[in-house]
Amino acid sequence: MTQARKIIIDTDPGQDDAVAILLALASPEVELLGITTVAGNVPLDLTTRNARIVCELANRRDVAIYAGCERPLGRTLVTAEHVHGKTGLDGPVLPEPTMPIKDQHGVDYIIDTLRAAPEKSITLCPLGPLTNIATALQKAPDIAERIQEIVLMGGAYFEVGNITPTAEFNIYVDPEAAKIVFDCGAPITVLPLDVTHKALVTPPRNDAFRDLGTPVGRAVAEMTDFFERFDLEKYGSEGAPLHDPCVIGYLIAPKLFSGRKINVEIETQSDLTRGMTVADWWGVTDRPANAYFIGDLDADGFFALLAERLAKL
Ligand code: RIB
Ligand code: CA
Repeated sequence: MTQARKIIIDTDPGQDDAVAILLALASPEVELLGITTVAGNVPLDLTTRNARIVCELANRRDVAIYAGCERPLGRTLVTAEHVHGKTGLDGPVLPEPTMPIKDQHGVDYIIDTLRAAPEKSITLCPLGPLTNIATALQKAPDIAERIQEIVLMGGAYFEVGNITPTAEFNIYVDPEAAKIVFDCGAPITVLPLDVTHKALVTPPRNDAFRDLGTPVGRAVAEMTDFFERFDLEKYGSEGAPLHDPCVIGYLIAPKLFSGRKINVEIETQSDLTRGMTVADWWGVTDRPANAYFIGDLDADGFFALLAERLAKL
């Protein structure tokens, strides 16, 4: 097997973030160097608590967790308790975490780790608002050329928006941060709503998690039971979109995903369309392509892989 890909997960758990972290911990194709937490689905103290809960659920108290930014670069924090519940990890009843977090700020951890490692040897996996990544790029512009790839969940084109009619939550919360990231020059792969809305946890797929008969399988099924109600009510879909695990799925099984290299710009000026990812999917502008924008996946293959990996925890 080729050498495991070194990754840092930047996250705002969030039930779907939690499944992404579990998938990474169960997959030898990736080496999780550390987790940085950011305010998003719920405030920073809760996203950090939830990251600890997930690592303990996987019996991985050794994972290095760093708390990052508690608010967007220049806007008031918008959270999503209406989707993820008051704790951000509603659904399963899991013990309060006891594992420690690191003292270093998440932004400084990202900077120092990229500077210390060989160039282009570390992939950043943002699963929430891009505040930490943007702050690191502002504080240390030299890291942009040291990043192997940024593989992020965020944005939309055909699916347009989930928090407003035109914006996806992660980009909406901190559009200025998203603009800094999309303009930074590092290779970017985007897992937008266009693909995550095709990664639906249908009842048979959630039963496959529950039928693993393990604490992880049960917890994931209970997270989904809670998390799906928002999307079922809103979209009438047949299950919850498993947004963030698509990022890790892409890293471990890229052949399950397809997309095209296009230009993506971020709307930061308009109140009406704040946080919109203006994706030139049809190539109607001469703006330079800056992102590999994923539009489709083999959903059956993805869920089979996910269940197989979660069974290992
Ligand atoms: O819009 C979906 C994204 O927003 C996911 O990352 C979810 O966890 C929330 O952060
Ligand atoms: Ca998230």
